[in-house]
Amino acid sequence: MPLLEIVTLPDPVLRRKAHKLATFDQDLKVLIANMIDTMREAPGVGLAAPQVGISSRLIVVEYGDEENGEEKKLYVVINPELTFPTEENALGVEGCLSVPGLVGEVERSSDVVVRGLNRHGKPVKIKASGWLARIFQHEVDHLDGIVFTDKANRIWQPKSEEQIEDV
Ligand code: CO
Repeated sequence: MPLLEIVTLPDPVLRRKAHKLATFDQDLKVLIANMIDTMREAPGVGLAAPQVGISSRLIVVEYGDEENGEEKKLYVVINPELTFPTEENALGVEGCLSVPGLVGEVERSSDVVVRGLNRHGKPVKIKASGWLARIFQHEVDHLDGIVFTDKANRIWQPKSEEQIEDV
């Protein structure tokens, strides 16, 4: 599968509100497969379609808390919608494949419920907390033209020993 080019700021596609998807055809299947490969190769733990120049509401996420013995899991969500089951927020340091060379501390909801469609067009519901919840919020922001630097309390250039997972 060919890798896709990851677009970076100030590319205007990153600032557009992406369109909902209504057709589950072969082109979409190919796009999803290529986005997964591109995310893995980057490497990153999430990728939204606008990050490969396509203004569609589609995200891929692959994450597992491996330090706690959790296996990596792949999520493909089309037209994702988020709801927040708790009032709890948490601070975390984020990077982004579309904002190279910067990281920032962002406050986000600790828990999130993601509803949308899978690659076959069937409804999915994912309950996430901690880092996974953060990744989903970061990716859905991309669909609304928002990048983490818009929301960060502090932004800095990471030192080489700071390992931040890009999303
Ligand atoms: Co990002």
